[in-house]
Amino acid sequence: MLKILITGGDGQLGNALKAASKNFSNIQLLFTDIADFDITQSEAVNAYLEQNHFNYLINCAAYTAVDKAEENTKSAYLINEKGPENLAIACQKQKCRLFHISTDYVFDGKSHIPYTEDKLTNPPSVYGQSKLAGERAILNNSNSATIIRTSWLYSEYGNNFLKTMLKLGAERPELRVIFDQIGTPTYAGDLANALLTMVSLNIEPKATEIYHYSNEGVISWYDFAKEIMEQAKLNCSIIPIESFEYPLPAPRPYYSVLNKRKIKAHFNLSIPYWKDSLKMALKHISNA
Ligand SMILES: NC(=O)c1ccc[n+]([C@@H]2O[C@H](COP(=O)([O-])OP(=O)(O)OC[C@H]3O[C@@H](n4cnc5c(N)ncnc54)[C@H](OP(=O)(O)O)[C@@H]3O)[C@@H](O)[C@H]2O)c1
Repeated sequence: MLKILITGGDGQLGNALKAASKNFSNIQLLFTDIADFDITQSEAVNAYLEQNHFNYLINCAAYTAVDKAEENTKSAYLINEKGPENLAIACQKQKCRLFHISTDYVFDGKSHIPYTEDKLTNPPSVYGQSKLAGERAILNNSNSATIIRTSWLYSEYGNNFLKTMLKLGAERPELRVIFDQIGTPTYAGDLANALLTMVSLNIEPKATEIYHYSNEGVISWYDFAKEIMEQAKLNCSIIPIESFEYPLPAPRPYYSVLNKRKIKAHFNLSIPYWKDSLKMALKHISNA
């Protein structure tokens, strides 16, 4: 039985891991969040991992308020850089393999070809910069960690684009949605399944590695909103707008499609198409 510690377990990915874990018989998960396991407290992190043995730690904890991070720079770096650094150091000492989640926002979005893991990072936002600093802290302090960059995460849990569209689509006759930012949504249930599949394989890592994971397909936020209205049977028109018509404090990458060749090859993963995953998420929402 593999013992896995989850940090940031009350967030949307944490909740998705709770649900997905029911399909895996060779793993035992312990879920924690900031109240009982604060990743920014290095002494407590070290002491806990010294006293309790885990084969893996999956870090879902993060400062994820992208726009607020532009002002709350200190908090963003504390949670997104110092936290992963603490985990990497403690895990390295205790021979616990660290899985850490990062983001497509580490790229500047100026490419037009899906990003492979080795492509130059250049985050335009504080959030992206703090997440990149977290990746570097792990690369500097661990030789067996796995960093997974994902994009446009959504689920039946917490606040995300799908939940916002369902709420507004039920209240309004039309919505204006950006069409000039291109990427791929990721259903947290699929990412959770992929993470637990990777962990279950229990492959000895040769080094700390970065992988990319999202659903299959390439769309704009406009396309995503259109499909949500269609599948949820909501009578709301979606109007395409440009990014400058919906200004936000943090700059977003215009293009952040992730190339998933590496993760598919190393872990023999088959990744669902985004429309099929959306269907699954809506099914879970309507059954809740
Ligand atoms: N959401 C996206 O679109 C997206 C896209 C790409 C990558 N990602 C990455 O995917 C990962 C999971 O995202 P998510 O959407 O599941 O995030 P989330 O819902 O915001 O969950 C993060 C969790 O971490 C907790 N947390 C905050 N500070 C902590 C600390 N110091 N110690 C322990 N726990 C702490 C949060 O608690 P509070 O709520 O109390 O702060 C929350 O429960 C993150 O690494 C994120 O950067 C997300």
